[in-house]
Amino acid sequence: MKDFNGRAAVITGAASGIGLGMARAFAGAGMKVALLDVRAGPLEAALADLRALGADAMAVVTDVSDAAAVETAAARVEANFGRIDIACNNAGVLVHGKAVEEITPAEWDWVLGVNLHGVIHGIRAFLPRIRRHGDGGHIVNTASIGGFQVGAAMQTPAYAVSKFAVVALSEGLRNDLRGTNIGVSVFAPAAVETGIYGSPLHKPERFGGPDSSGEHTPDFIRAGMTPDQAGRRVLAAIAANDFYVFTHMQTRDWLLARHSEIIAGYDAAQRWEAGEPHPVPRMKT
Ligand SMILES: NC(=O)c1ccc[n+]([C@@H]2O[C@H](COP(=O)([O-])OP(=O)(O)OC[C@H]3O[C@@H](n4cnc5c(N)ncnc54)[C@H](O)[C@@H]3O)[C@@H](O)[C@H]2O)c1
Repeated sequence: MKDFNGRAAVITGAASGIGLGMARAFAGAGMKVALLDVRAGPLEAALADLRALGADAMAVVTDVSDAAAVETAAARVEANFGRIDIACNNAGVLVHGKAVEEITPAEWDWVLGVNLHGVIHGIRAFLPRIRRHGDGGHIVNTASIGGFQVGAAMQTPAYAVSKFAVVALSEGLRNDLRGTNIGVSVFAPAAVETGIYGSPLHKPERFGGPDSSGEHTPDFIRAGMTPDQAGRRVLAAIAANDFYVFTHMQTRDWLLARHSEIIAGYDAAQRWEAGEPHPVPRMKT
C-alpha cells in the first residue's frame, strides 16, 4: 500500500505509547484513525491529540480480551468511516519480575487474554471488513523482540509466551493471505519509551486487580525509541509490505545467537543419527 490518503485505520491500545505513535503517523499521512483502548480517560486525551493534528479521528472504549466488544467496536468504526483498510492489533500488557512458577493463573489469563486473544479477536473482527471493500489493506500485529528470544534480565516469560504466539499467529495469517491484496506485518520493537512496565497498575479486578510491580519502569525503556518514531517505522513497513518489522539493530545479534544455538541442536541430532540411522519421512513445510 503506497497511497494512505483517505484510508481508514483502526488501532488497539491507542490511548498511549506505540499505538498513539502509530495513530499520529497515520494521521500525518492523511488517514482516518479509530482509536480503541480499555482506559477511557487516556483515550479521550489521545482523541483530542489526534483532532488537534487535524485528523478525522474517533475513539471506542474497548477491552480487546473480550471478543464481543472487539466485534462491536469494529462495526462502529466501519459504520463511521464506511470502511476499514488498516488494522493494528497493538494493545499489550506486561508481567515482569516473576519466574514461571510464580506467575499466577490470573496473570497468565490477563497476559494471554490481552496480548494473544486480543490479536485473535482483532483479526476475526477487522479482516472480514477489510476484505469486504475489495481495495486491499494491511494488518499489523504488535509482537515484540520478546516474541523471538526470551530475555533473562527482566523476567518476562508470560509476556514472551504471548509474543511468540503473536509471531506464529502472524506467520499463519500471512500464509492465509498470500496472493491477496491484504498485507501482514508483525512488529517487533525492542525498547520504546512507553508506560508498558506500568501496565500492572491497571490490571483489572477479574485478573487479580492492580499490582504495585508496575511502579518501576527500567532505565532502558525510559531511554528507548520514541512512540512517534515507532509509529513512523510501522507506516514505512506497511508502505514496503515488510512482514518482519524490527527497530533496534543490536537485536539482530540476539537472534543470530539464538539461531546458532538451535542449529547446534541439529548438529547434536546429526551425531546421534550417525550412530542410529533411521528412515527420514518427507515433510511439507
Ligand atoms: N514499549 C516497548 O518497549 C515495547 C517493546 C516491544 C513491544 N511492545 C508492545 O507494544 C504494544 C504497545 O505497548 P506500549 O509499549 O505502547 O505500552 P502502553 O502501555 O503505552 O500501551 C499499551 C496500551 O494498551 C492498552 N490496553 C491494555 N489492556 C488493554 C485491553 N484489555 N484492551 C484494550 N487496550 C488495552 C493500555 O491502556 C495502553 O494504552 C504492546 O503490545 C507491547 O507489548 C512494547
